[in-house]
Amino acid sequence: MSLDAVLSRIDADLPAATDRLLELLRIPSISTDPAFKADCDAAADWLVADLKTLGVDAAKRVTPGHPMVVGHIDGEGPHLLFYGHYDVQPVDPLDLWDRDPFDPEVQETPKGPVIRARGAADDKGQLMTFVEACRAWKAVNGTLPCKLTFFLEGEEESGSPSLVPFMTENAEELKSDLALICDTGLFESRVPAITTMLRGLLGEEFTITGPTRDLHSGMYGGAAINPIRVLSRIIAALHDETGRITVPGFYDGVPELSDEMRAQWQGLAFDHAAFLGDVGLSHPAGEQDRTPLEMIWSRPTCEVNGIWGGYTGAGFKTVLPSKASAKISFRLVGTQDPLKIRENFREMVRGMLPPDCKVEFHGHGASQAGAFDTTDPAFEQARQALSDEWPDTAAYIGCGGSIPIAGHFANILGTTPMLIGFGKDDDQIHSPNEKYDMESFHKGIRSWARVLAALT
Ligand code: BES
Ligand code: ZN
Repeated sequence: MSLDAVLSRIDADLPAATDRLLELLRIPSISTDPAFKADCDAAADWLVADLKTLGVDAAKRVTPGHPMVVGHIDGEGPHLLFYGHYDVQPVDPLDLWDRDPFDPEVQETPKGPVIRARGAADDKGQLMTFVEACRAWKAVNGTLPCKLTFFLEGEEESGSPSLVPFMTENAEELKSDLALICDTGLFESRVPAITTMLRGLLGEEFTITGPTRDLHSGMYGGAAINPIRVLSRIIAALHDETGRITVPGFYDGVPELSDEMRAQWQGLAFDHAAFLGDVGLSHPAGEQDRTPLEMIWSRPTCEVNGIWGGYTGAGFKTVLPSKASAKISFRLVGTQDPLKIRENFREMVRGMLPPDCKVEFHGHGASQAGAFDTTDPAFEQARQALSDEWPDTAAYIGCGGSIPIAGHFANILGTTPMLIGFGKDDDQIHSPNEKYDMESFHKGIRSWARVLAALT
């Protein structure tokens, strides 16, 4: 095995690897929107075909939702599993994109070249870093350094409804010594990271109905209850003036940060002013007396993701609407129980309803937070490998986002998840003009080659 030869091969193959990624990025695999079902299928087909070129025995596997892609390849040494997701977020608001989100291109920017497209960073570019590392390894050595299972999902961005049943039904097939997940970020652009803490997520949608139909606000205003006003009052009541969330029992299971962890995070010297400054802000808006890093990695949240009702089109309409709706998400930490919080939240909303109003709830995903054991020597080996590739030493970090599958690997399969990714804070994931730095892609591929060498 020659790591240097693999790294050289990666460097030489970068233009071709980029072309392959651009091909995948052209497929609009938006999982949450049924209009893109055939495209999700096409992305799965593309991946099956690509994995087959590596000699992986890969197949598209049907689920009640979008298909999974599962592939196996034999090799000497440990059995590793790789997880990534091929689905992407919706692109709206489309008018804020500088180009068609599914017409990817490599663009020169003052900070270096970037790959611009929906899914470039989340998660197609990231998942291809691993595939390309395997391709280079195979080309140089003829075989891979370990037995590998690929497990690629097409529903991650829409709450992974098929995942738990699929994992449970195929548990034997998906068991491995370690699950590598590439769906997270660097700590900073020079500092690679292994993410060891993720927040959980609870999604709730609700609609308040007042009058049986939309009304003229001159004829009925004042006399008739307005569901938008009711909804606004409920939403405003979800936080108190200090930023604490008021849902009863919400903080059950939220641990205080240990002194050890606090000291470790302080050692990371996170630039809070730049973090907020990059998005045009200057004041932390969450709970008082906590740093932004602490808020993002170790504190729970309640955010309003969308709110609608009444007339929002051009011009003006004096309507008193019949209905008002909102989508709310809670990020969870520690041992907060998503189902208990759902129950308490619904109870609180029902308790605030005035006469004549009714509420309907629709639950979205519900996953607990995850904190992963790093005592397995594989973690230090991987950390060293990452440190060899990047300018600065790799850090163990937390993550404000949620990747429910990481917890499922631990709980359903008994496999330790290891989260390594190369995204940057300014990648604009889930936003217009998403991009993945060419540096993330190139060094990401090289990083995986080094990690594979270190783990096998
Ligand atoms: N890749 C993200 C998770 C992530 C976000 C990692 C930010 C690092 C930084 C993932 O695809 C994602 O967006 N997950 C969703 C959860 C899902 C259940 C909808 C999220 O965190 O909102
Ligand atoms: Zn993702």
